[in-house]
Amino acid sequence: MKRILVTGGLGQMGSELVPELRRRYGAENVIASDLRMPPAGADASEGPFEFIDCTRQSQVRAAVQRHRIDTVFHLAALLSAVAEEKPHMAWDVNMGGLYRVLEVARESGCAVFFPSSIGSFGPNTPKESTPQDALQRPTTMYGVTKASGELLCDYYYNRFGVDTRGVRFPGLISHIAPPGGGTTDYAVEIFYAAIRHGHYSSFLGPETRLDMMYMPDALRAVIGIMEADPGRLVHRNSFNVTAMDVTPEELAEEIRRHVPGFTISYKIDPVRQAIADSWPDSIDDSAARAEWDWMPTFDLESLTADMIDKLRSKLGA
Ligand SMILES: NC(=O)c1ccc[n+]([C@@H]2O[C@H](COP(=O)([O-])OP(=O)(O)OC[C@H]3O[C@@H](n4cnc5c(N)ncnc54)[C@H](O)[C@@H]3O)[C@@H](O)[C@H]2O)c1
Repeated sequence: MKRILVTGGLGQMGSELVPELRRRYGAENVIASDLRMPPAGADASEGPFEFIDCTRQSQVRAAVQRHRIDTVFHLAALLSAVAEEKPHMAWDVNMGGLYRVLEVARESGCAVFFPSSIGSFGPNTPKESTPQDALQRPTTMYGVTKASGELLCDYYYNRFGVDTRGVRFPGLISHIAPPGGGTTDYAVEIFYAAIRHGHYSSFLGPETRLDMMYMPDALRAVIGIMEADPGRLVHRNSFNVTAMDVTPEELAEEIRRHVPGFTISYKIDPVRQAIADSWPDSIDDSAARAEWDWMPTFDLESLTADMIDKLRSKLGA
């Protein structure tokens, strides 16, 4: 990886992946891009930025050629709750965007990172310790695009030799950029609410168990899979990765250790609850551990302590 393009670079993950890639590979070698422009006041000296709609192949191609890109981190997508609201647009962005990125990669010889999700599983996938190779019949548009995306990436590797790689992320918890409309957003909102108001009203029920990961571990997973020895990779585009599985009740309990008196109530959003209920309770990431030495570093206790600490400084609380 010498010259890198990140699509969807202003989102929850891109806001932290871009600076991390710039630290490792040099600011001038990492081109951030998005459909939005960086916020007013953003420091242009941090590195190059391009406006790119990933569904416009000419825009992706022009940036790849102009900057002599060899690796694309394709983050641009509509997340699960937004995709359920706008399923047609989600198909266009999630599948259309990936297809065009893969086409440009095929033409230009780029490697591609594609983030799939626990949302690629469905209600008839084994719920506990979901194996790496499990039945995938997702019932959401987000899941349909993620499961199809995994297959399309495999196809481009097998058919055209494009070096595609990816992981299935669980819910990502972070404190830099807000989440973009996923089913696991509660696990970020709860921290802000705890510090600001001492109370959170959760849109998922108390016992909804889902896998989660702290952003520093997610960044390690992204870079780890892209730097992995390709000779060891069997799965390439769909590695289960996780750090913990947790319910809103358990997360609230852990937060209470740092914010005494913190309370949680429940006002369930039926759409997001139905999405969460169709996903696994916990996934098995042993293939990632075996094939490229994946290992998370944050558990619920250390994640909570760090989030509270970082957010207290950020919010001046
Ligand atoms: N955040 C999570 O919990 C999570 C979990 C599993 C997988 N993922 C996947 O990781 C990737 C990044 O997620 P995120 O949380 O940063 O999402 P996000 O919603 O925060 O950011 C996505 C970015 O894509 C941009 N975008 C939307 N349409 C675009 C288009 N047509 N062209 C270019 N850019 C466009 C948006 O402006 C936004 O900045 C996504 O593919 C997502 O499905 C995220």
